[in-house]
Formats: sequence, C-alpha cells, structure tokens
Amino acid sequence: RKDILHMEDLKPSEIQIIINTAKPMKEILSRAVKKLPTFRGRSVYNLFFESSTRTRTSFETAAKILGADTTSLAVAQSSVNKGESLLDTVRTLQAMKPDLVVIRHSSSGAAHFLAKELKAGVINAGDGQHEHPTQALLDLYTMQEHLGSVEGKKILLVGDILHSRVARSNVWALKALGAEVVLVGPPTLLTPEIKSWGVKTTYHLDEELAGADVIMALRLQLERQKAGLLPSLREYSQLYGITAERVQRTGKKTLIMHPGPVNRGVEIESSIVNSTQSVIEEQVTNGVAVRMAIMYLLLGGGTNHVVD
Ligand code: CP
Repeated sequence: RKDILHMEDLKPSEIQIIINTAKPMKEILSRAVKKLPTFRGRSVYNLFFESSTRTRTSFETAAKILGADTTSLAVAQSSVNKGESLLDTVRTLQAMKPDLVVIRHSSSGAAHFLAKELKAGVINAGDGQHEHPTQALLDLYTMQEHLGSVEGKKILLVGDILHSRVARSNVWALKALGAEVVLVGPPTLLTPEIKSWGVKTTYHLDEELAGADVIMALRLQLERQKAGLLPSLREYSQLYGITAERVQRTGKKTLIMHPGPVNRGVEIESSIVNSTQSVIEEQVTNGVAVRMAIMYLLLGGGTNHVVD
C-alpha cells in the first residue's frame, strides 16, 4: 500500500495492524528523548489547504520523532494565490522528491486525485466532507485502549453528521470491526444519503443514551452550514448537547470523545470536556502515535507483507 486515503479501503486486518503498530509508538512519546533515526534522510511534505491545529502538528510531530525531515507549505503565501492549480502545485513539489505527502483540502476526493498523480505516498488528512481516515484510526485506538474490542459496543456519534468527514470515516471503521453505531442529529444534518451508510440513524438523542459505551460529540461546522440547515444554537444545544445529566443516563462509565476543535457549550458542556470520563486529550496524544505508525508502515515497505 502506497497511500492511506479512505477507511473504506482498509481491511479490518490492516486497521488492526496500524493500531498494533501505534502501541510501541505511544511508548516512545513518554520518553525523555523522543527521537528515532528510523527515517533519517526521508522527507514528509504537509500541504494543508484548510485550517488545522491537531492534525497538522500531529503529522509534523510524528514525522520528526521518526527522524524524517518535514516541510509545511504555507498555502497563504504560496503560488496557489497566483492561480497555480492543485495539480501543478503538487507536480512542482513532486520534483523535490518527497517520500510522503500529507494533504488536507476542501474538495472531496483531492487526496485520491493526488495519489494517482504522485509517486510519493499520500495520506488523506481530511478531504472536504468526505473522509478523515487518520482521525478514525486514532479514535479506534482510543476506544480499544479503554474498552478492548469495539465489537458489540454501542457508539453514539452525535451532531453535525452531514458535514462530518470524521463521522463518515468512523462509521466505516466501526462497522468493519463489528461495533453498534448510532448516528444522532437533527433532520437537516441527517440527510437521506446518510441513512444509506448502513447504520442506525435517529433524531432522538435521549432515546439512545441507555447503554452507550461511547458518546462522540461532533463539532457543529458553522463555516459549512447553508441557510436553513440549523436550528438555533440554543435549540440545538438543548436537543443534542452532551450534558452531565445525559452522560449519567447512559448507566455506564461512558467514554466521552470529540475530534476537536470543540464549541464548548454548544455540542458539549464545558464541564464534560474536562471530566474524568473525557478522553479528548488522549485522542490528541494517540493521534501522534497512530500517525507515527502509519508513516512507519508506509515508509517501511508498506503493509502488504503483513495483510492477508
Ligand atoms: N480533529 C481535527 O481534524 O482537528 P484539526 O482541524 O485541528 O486538525
């Protein structure tokens, strides 16, 4: 395998190999000196055409720990602003012989398009509303760390499903590993296309809380909303906000997750973000380990030799 583009492409055995490889990577993060010579002389280019805090720094940190050189294209100061196309931009970068290219772009399918053009490996760091596979992998890692296998576990994804590439990637991954996934949100953000993903969908959060092993609140993507899609923030928060009272109604020590960035007080109460059940910061730490694992597997000769 040259690229990581969609969760849909990954077999359960490949998902598990990535997660198993991330475990020793996480131990490296606890060391005083977090630097390996593994990929000395190899290069990773970060191309983020959309804003990012977690994913971009996570990839950069992961590459540096593994000893690779990282280059981040400052899109705002690049020749993209002079009208250079995405394809010409990446062909130019390809001429500098990177080993891996990490891309986030507002167009669904951008990473897939580049992967066909580039000799370098391509990792999808989020393409439009389509997929964010490394986020789903770090989410799975975090769930497995706390719950063991996710098979048969009840996982609620709550909120702006329509605009969430995180939801789409998580659904593929969780379905592949046998979890019971329930997508919860207002009718305007749970469209008929989403109902075809093959998991339960509902508008009624309160009816699904009992027995939930995980509640993952999704960010209300205010920048992507079209007029009329959203109820008022107050109404949204009343119907779908993750509150202490709702967490208690699960009847379990439910894991509280959020991919970030968080709109505190909208999709999740601030006290829940900081509660003992919240693993939101662990997700960020695990993100570095999972991205180290992905780079290790891609640059180390691919996963083909270990999958069936
Ligand atoms: N979870 C996530 O993708 O966060 P960033 O947008 O900050 O990278």
